[in-house]
Amino acid sequence: MNLKIGIIKGDGIGPEIVTEAIKVLDKVCDLYGHDVHYVDLLLGGSSIDVHGVPLTDDTIRIAKECDAILMGSIGGDPETSPWYQLEPDKRPEAGLLKIRKALNLFTNIRPAILYKSLKDSSPLKEEIIANGFNMIIVRELTGGLYFGHRYTKEVDGILTAVDQLVYNEQEIERVAINAFEIAMKRDKRLTSVDKANVLDSSRLWRKVVNRVHQDYPEVELIHMLVDNCAMQLVKDPNQFDVILTENMFGDILSDEASMLTGSIGMLPSGSINETKLGLYEPSGGSAPDIAGLGIANPIATILSAAMMLQYSFDLDTEARAIERAVEEVIAEGFRTKDILTEGHILLNTAQMGDKICERIR
Ligand code: IPM
Ligand code: MG
Repeated sequence: MNLKIGIIKGDGIGPEIVTEAIKVLDKVCDLYGHDVHYVDLLLGGSSIDVHGVPLTDDTIRIAKECDAILMGSIGGDPETSPWYQLEPDKRPEAGLLKIRKALNLFTNIRPAILYKSLKDSSPLKEEIIANGFNMIIVRELTGGLYFGHRYTKEVDGILTAVDQLVYNEQEIERVAINAFEIAMKRDKRLTSVDKANVLDSSRLWRKVVNRVHQDYPEVELIHMLVDNCAMQLVKDPNQFDVILTENMFGDILSDEASMLTGSIGMLPSGSINETKLGLYEPSGGSAPDIAGLGIANPIATILSAAMMLQYSFDLDTEARAIERAVEEVIAEGFRTKDILTEGHILLNTAQMGDKICERIR
């Protein structure tokens, strides 16, 4: 198979972790006989430094010609980085929102898995995580508060800011269909999260999700209010299989869920549209405080590459080969600094990438 992959190294630890994911991809493609070709794309701060904007139209055009995109992370420290002296729509994050919209990446898939051998890193008590947990958060990514009209102006001499939250039925329906499809391949349990006791957009959300549910009668559907969901996540995370929610709630809940695994450096994510084109990136941020030190955990990016093989290329065996290699390396006690606990072997970023490559078969 021919794989044309856009590479966004990005900012902070991005370049280091993407380098390791490319190592692993090269190894898998070599072993399984695929031709992989990479195209470098600039996004975020690194694009601002070169072009003055976080995403150019040219980059969007080239990105659209790729089969899939692998990204490290974007952004810097808002307190110290000059990128944050720019107008909000010229900052690194604006580039990320723009590429999500331009590629119509409306479904964001964020697994949160508690690895047995990493249980010690979870902040939850043993009795709560005794049975582990393995959930996928499906977050709507191109609507809601992130893309509504926003402005700040003086009203009667008082500074007033407005952020509009808009959803239409089609936007809800297409992400709901993807979530039900994902649930069908798993435990067939879907929790749709909203704030239907207050918000109109949430009442519409519920109505459309119920409608889509009629096509998936095998899936058990539960509606849950977002505040309750935030609580249930720490009380009993094992109750969740697939969580479906809108953009902003998904942003918050996915950070919460990832923290519960104790290892945000382990969690991949993927954003897809109605074609196979997807953008895959670690769930964690650009961690400017440790950038360039060679100590960042590349596993989330490596697992994002696995998600890419699975969702964009239907290469399930190859994806599984990567996941298995990661599991083996962890089970053998190898750790990067962020997940290091007593009695384990510390590796730096490149050593972790090499170790995982060695285990690919
Ligand atoms: C995420 C990030 C982004 C978001 C930021 C960087 C704009 O937090 O991918 O979760 O809020 O979507
Ligand atoms: Mg976030």
